[in-house]
Amino acid sequence: MTISNRSAEPDASVLFVCLGNICRSPTAEGVFRAAAVKGGIGSLVLADSAGIGDWHVGLPPDKRTIQAARRRGYDLTAIRGRRVQVADFSRFGWIIAMDESNLRALTEMKPPDFGGHLGLLLEFAPEAGLREVPDPYFGGAEGFDRVIDLVEQGTAGLLARMRVTLAGR
Ligand code: 4NP
Repeated sequence: MTISNRSAEPDASVLFVCLGNICRSPTAEGVFRAAAVKGGIGSLVLADSAGIGDWHVGLPPDKRTIQAARRRGYDLTAIRGRRVQVADFSRFGWIIAMDESNLRALTEMKPPDFGGHLGLLLEFAPEAGLREVPDPYFGGAEGFDRVIDLVEQGTAGLLARMRVTLAGR
């Protein structure tokens, strides 16, 4: 978890969620934040990440995640793991899951009055031809590079969609 802008409104706030919060969702947090800064809206949006499980609470991302991200110009070293909580549905208007299993768990947690968007990251990257960002944890190094490719596509599409929302408010 790293919060760049604690005062952002829910519609400018995005929470990325995966299973462990040490591979896919911290990558999405860092890549999204870098794209927002590059696009000139880094001070308007808030990005965070969390896990469905609690095994890695308080820990930095997986070393393979940090290294793969560093090779592509992203620094994820300040991020620390945390578990998603029901209160996140009040703070974040965009809750973005990496795979269908994460999405099912979040759908079960979702309070009935949540008015934001809960969905999959790759909904925002139809060109990727996939619905899920595959979990790289038990695989080889190439899986971590693939996560960055997919996350770059998904977060670019999400940022474009959020810009539309932010411009209209
Ligand atoms: P992530 O990957 O959900 O992308 O962070 C995983 C990390 C750890 C575990 C599973 C998936 N685990 O079982 O500890």
